[in-house]
Amino acid sequence: MRIDVLKLYNFRNYTRLSISFHPNLNLIYGKNGSGKTNLVEAIYVLALTRSFRLVNEKTLILDTALMCKIEGTLYNNHATTYEILLSKDGKKVQINHDKVAKISDYISKIPIVLFHPDDLRFIKDTPSTRRKTVNISISLLDIPYLRYLNLYNKILKQRNSYLKQMAINGNSSTEYLKILTDKLIMYGSYIYKKREEFLEKINQHISTFYEKITGISGLKILYVSSYKGLNDEEIGELYQKSQAKDVDYRKTSIGIHMDDLKFLLNNRDLKEYGSEGQQKNAIIAYKFSEIEVFRECKGFYPILILDDLFSELDGEKIQNILNLLKTDIQTFITTTDVDNLNLPYLSYKQIHIQNGKVVEESEHERGK
Ligand SMILES: Nc1ncnc2c1ncn2[C@@H]1O[C@H](COP(=O)(O)OP(=O)(O)OP(=O)(O)O)[C@@H](O)[C@H]1O
Ligand SMILES: [Mg+2]
Repeated sequence: MRIDVLKLYNFRNYTRLSISFHPNLNLIYGKNGSGKTNLVEAIYVLALTRSFRLVNEKTLILDTALMCKIEGTLYNNHATTYEILLSKDGKKVQINHDKVAKISDYISKIPIVLFHPDDLRFIKDTPSTRRKTVNISISLLDIPYLRYLNLYNKILKQRNSYLKQMAINGNSSTEYLKILTDKLIMYGSYIYKKREEFLEKINQHISTFYEKITGISGLKILYVSSYKGLNDEEIGELYQKSQAKDVDYRKTSIGIHMDDLKFLLNNRDLKEYGSEGQQKNAIIAYKFSEIEVFRECKGFYPILILDDLFSELDGEKIQNILNLLKTDIQTFITTTDVDNLNLPYLSYKQIHIQNGKVVEESEHERGK
């Protein structure tokens, strides 16, 4: 999949922009605050209808405007036009100029894998951040996943409020609790299986990528889940056992909403032992693995965005990461400095940004 043309209207600091991209590599460069991240953010919003930055959506619209529009022509066997309009009245999306009524029918059509500096939270933060990241990855591969996850969360809420009722009323009827628990297990098992399958596939690649970047082998992801290795009946017994405690705490203590994952480098948890650079490289190795897993499942590569990849990494690691880029993955890299980049034998386009405008574009064709 690739994006050929992007048009912006009142998006962030871009009043108007129309730009065509290189099918292989696009190097977006410019000073701090010029609009590099804004440009890749536009591609991300076009794909997923929301930003990767934790922002109020109003900030996506140019300060002085009331609405913004992003339009992109994407190519995957054939060309398709995607459009998203944002205003204070909400979002509207279109495919080939036809309105799409449900946002859920629109997202996941443009698969994107993104790295940006906040992604370090994937290792540093709480389990919920790790679950969210993995949820986004899996939802690109499996359409029902997010629906089942929402259903699970709905039942979980109902179960927790019933536990609270039981605690307050001293209500000992467990029949309704059992109905809720069975539903929770039904949706939860689906989520568990998808997470396990996905992380197993990631584990087939991640060590190799980490080694290519750092020269050190032995990275793997450990999936931690209360459902691990159990069938539905055994999971049911777990809920049974924790029932008294759950009523006491008025909260469900077992289930995929408690899942976590650990990045283990030769059995040491990178969250506790890893340096900033090691954590960053581990996440980059995860992203490259994700791309490969996507291709194995779907037969084509997603679009790759690497925002501000190079800060805090030494020159050797940067070079090793650049060497991982491939001609059949359309890649966007933002950087403040292009002069010191030694690109592998890839053709690319250099795009110079200043104050929300493209001031210079140049294509560089290379033989293999
Ligand atoms: N809604 C908006 N309207 C106008 N300008 C905006 C809006 N949102 C952000 N900006 C401007 O966009 C600029 C930031 O752009 P961006 O984050 O893309 O910078 P960058 O080139 O990635 O910089 P860095 O190298 O520091 O990462 C800032 O100058 C900011 O004021
Ligand atoms: Mg930036």
